[in-house]
Amino acid sequence: MRNYTSNGVLLVLCNGGLNQMRSAICDMVAVARLLNLTLVVPELDKTSFWADPSGFEDIFDVRHFIDSLRDEVRIFRRLPKRYSTKSGYQMFQMPPVSWSDDNYYLNQILPLFSKHKVVHFNRTDTRLANNGLPLSLQRLRCRVNFQGLKFTPQLEVLGSKLVRMLQQRGPFVALHLR
Ligand SMILES: *[C@@H]1O[C@H](CO)[C@@H](O)[C@H](O)[C@H]1NC(C)=O
Repeated sequence: MRNYTSNGVLLVLCNGGLNQMRSAICDMVAVARLLNLTLVVPELDKTSFWADPSGFEDIFDVRHFIDSLRDEVRIFRRLPKRYSTKSGYQMFQMPPVSWSDDNYYLNQILPLFSKHKVVHFNRTDTRLANNGLPLSLQRLRCRVNFQGLKFTPQLEVLGSKLVRMLQQRGPFVALHLR
């Protein structure tokens, strides 16, 4: 468990397809780590082109996500009640600027938390830059992608079944059309 004084709460709404949202989740964990924020389990896009109603917990193992990243970032399952709009709390919303690096987050975003306890990033395909980031942040991003984000057991079972079926027919290639 990493001990730090949280500068505030980061709430994010991922957008795009699953692959985009997955990258965004990795980026947002890195941002939360960089700025010493508490992250709320990201909300997935349910209204995009794909109109997939799945929530984070339908796709990823939430418990594992929270526990496996404990030594880096504190993650809450939900926004604490006192910050909910129902309690009359006015949340500050904004989309972060695309492809920004760590300096943008340190210089432009961190100061917002001294005024607003919660910042809601309402789009996240606007990710972190790919190059020139501190190695520790790149490493954390990879760690989230390869260890933190595990599919739910049901999806793991289904995935293995599909792979087995494909393998029985000989070699195959999986292609993400982009
Ligand atoms: C995100 O927040 C900004 C600032 O409040 C707003 O102008 C914009 O419409 C919001 N975007 C979405 C996708 O909700």
